[in-house]
Amino acid sequence: MTNSKAPKSPPPSPPHLHDLNAVLAAARNILAEGAINRHAPAHTPTFATISPEGRPRLRTIVLRGFEESSMQLWFHTDRRSRKIDELYKNPSAAVHIYDRDQKVQLQISGRATLHLDDYVTEAAWAKSRPMSRMCYQVIQAPGSVIKDPHHAVQDPSRNAGGSDNFMVAALRIDALEWLFLDARGHRRARFSRNGGAWSGTWIVP
Ligand SMILES: Cc1cc2nc3c(=O)[nH]c(=O)nc-3n(C[C@H](O)[C@H](O)[C@H](O)COP(=O)(O)O)c2cc1C
Repeated sequence: MTNSKAPKSPPPSPPHLHDLNAVLAAARNILAEGAINRHAPAHTPTFATISPEGRPRLRTIVLRGFEESSMQLWFHTDRRSRKIDELYKNPSAAVHIYDRDQKVQLQISGRATLHLDDYVTEAAWAKSRPMSRMCYQVIQAPGSVIKDPHHAVQDPSRNAGGSDNFMVAALRIDALEWLFLDARGHRRARFSRNGGAWSGTWIVP
């Protein structure tokens, strides 16, 4: 029988409280989970670009994939969208994730690669669901001014059913910052790509 009045033992300390390698592994796990679990906070990160005027621009995206070995993530988008125009002009981009359950913030930066008319985009389109395809069947480009919300017209008979407007954008992560705010002690760490390897350091939270 358990004694309900006995003092509870504190939860075990996660290794990422004191082990830098464990921090990077935990950050990778958050991204990997975000790519496959639509309920995970990392499934809908904020993606930042820089406008030609040098202003930051943010928007939510759906994380569609994360490859640990290359530290690349990717999402689907409309090639006519403003973010793509911005990435053509300046491929520097950033991603922000806050995982409330794990009490972790990730600040990620890197360079974008745009997949147009290649096998990556073709394979992603082939796997996409009819509901997702509808977004790309709108005749007017995203962000076009319309007088009435009903004027945004979907026409699956044009633009190859939407596939002409669809593309995959990837971000090759070059740097990653981890912030863990916890009663046992706050932790902050920075990692950067060093050729093929990753190096990291603790920094003041
Ligand atoms: C939950 C959620 C998920 C979204 N996912 C995507 C996405 O995966 N790709 C995308 O291009 N836009 C997505 N959007 C719309 C963008 O946030 C944004 O409004 C749109 O892409 C236009 O952005 P831009 O003008 O900066 O290009 C999503 C919005 C929300 C609210």
